[in-house]
Amino acid sequence: MKHLMRAAALALPLLTAFAFATTARPWTSAERATLSALHIGRLAAAPADPSNVVADRPEAVALGRRLFFDARLSANGRVSCASCHAPEQGFQDGRPVGEGLATGSRRTMPVPAAAHASWFFWDGRKDSLWSQALGPLEDAAEHGANRVQLVRLLAQAYRPDYEALFGPLPPLAGLPAAASPLGTAAEQAAWARLPEAQREAVDRAFANLGKAIAAYERTLTPGESRFDRYVAAVTGGRAEDEAQLSPAEVRGLRLFIGKAQCVSCHAGPLFSDQHFHNTGVPPRDPRRPDPGRAPAVARVQADPFNCLGRFSDASPEGCQELRFIADADPHMQSAFKTPGLRNVAGRAPYMHAGQFATLEQVIAHYVAAPDAALGHSELARVGHPHAERRPIALNDAEAADLAAFLRSLSGPVCERGRPC
Ligand code: HEC
Ligand code: HEC
Repeated sequence: MKHLMRAAALALPLLTAFAFATTARPWTSAERATLSALHIGRLAAAPADPSNVVADRPEAVALGRRLFFDARLSANGRVSCASCHAPEQGFQDGRPVGEGLATGSRRTMPVPAAAHASWFFWDGRKDSLWSQALGPLEDAAEHGANRVQLVRLLAQAYRPDYEALFGPLPPLAGLPAAASPLGTAAEQAAWARLPEAQREAVDRAFANLGKAIAAYERTLTPGESRFDRYVAAVTGGRAEDEAQLSPAEVRGLRLFIGKAQCVSCHAGPLFSDQHFHNTGVPPRDPRRPDPGRAPAVARVQADPFNCLGRFSDASPEGCQELRFIADADPHMQSAFKTPGLRNVAGRAPYMHAGQFATLEQVIAHYVAAPDAALGHSELARVGHPHAERRPIALNDAEAADLAAFLRSLSGPVCERGRPC
């Protein structure tokens, strides 16, 4: 008995010291370097876009902002970019899939910091922000507009501002009310009847509309979160500010950059490597799994509004990404762009088609690591013929800590040049 008591008396302080060490262990220098690389201060200005000469012109930003919020850019006068990318919701809509004129098949993506990517949409089928903007405008489920209608609107409502930036709009005489190579059968027929020079003039004005919207989008970035204030405290040696994160959040952060391996894809100040991965997320419709990146490579190569096309302002040397795109990569089957995780807590449901309602469900998915419905999941278990990673083993308490950490990444959305 005496022995036992002595053992307990010895063990207790040892145990306490151990518990303290596991929660409050100081960060190693390698870990501090990883933390610094995630800090918002590491986010440089959006990379230059040589395919868009007005990308950083203040007049283009002002015009683009008006266009982004203008519901006249739609078939029914009720859908603007902001209908799905709502500023008060971090420029997304909180829905599982986008809803404009009809219901789409993928989740609306947030716009802030999108300019830091080389490829746009979940599958990267566009290679610039301006070319991306042209997609929803003519998508039958989104704005449902057509390019001739849009050029008419520019002439009627935006002529002075447009012409100050881009020069004269094309003459409208002889143009039908509606025409587009991507529209309804009637719109396609009307488009085919237009002389080549007129089609090119409409396409150029349509591309310019996208370039002004892109200039506005480039000004939007996520602001500082509690996580950033914590990292500044840790790396700046200000111990008192380390209380920015709770012990549970700090434990979650250790998992995120440690054994849960999240940081291997969710890297850098936006928490995205900007690459495409198949992570075995179950398809929304099991009969029609989404092929993701694989077919998008040929689409961006064939796109008349890509970096090498006649409406781009870049020389071929300015289009390295497109020229050296990896085609026929088997890993791209059902691969999707890694979403950034800033403000993630405010934008359930998650994944490319809103498959998971909560962050807890997302984490449970990483632990379960199911096989992919199409292609091969990079999270597949050891022993699986296509396994590339170790499985992520987390108990319930660890999963809760990891979710708590993800909730510390919330902060404002800032527009360049405005108070944030
Ligand atoms: C009906 C809802 C809806 C409307 C309207 C809409 N979007 Fe989107 N947006 C989406 C969806 C859904 C996606 C993802 C689609 C996909 O990957 O196929 C997306 C993706 C994007 C992306 C890609 C972000 C990234 O990181 O790759 C940008 C940028 C964007 N939209 C900007 C715009 C602009 C600009 C407009 C107006 C011209 C617009 N959107 C109109 C729903 C919408
Ligand atoms: C192999 C790369 C990879 C790893 C490792 C990884 N992720 Fe992801 N993550 C992705 C991709 C790709 C998606 C989008 C998948 C989709 O929609 O099909 C995603 C989506 C998410 C989302 C949803 C975000 C949104 O806006 O819908 C969250 C949250 C998330 N990951 C957190 C984590 C956490 C936590 C870990 C560590 C346990 C982790 N990820 C590990 C690549 C990865």
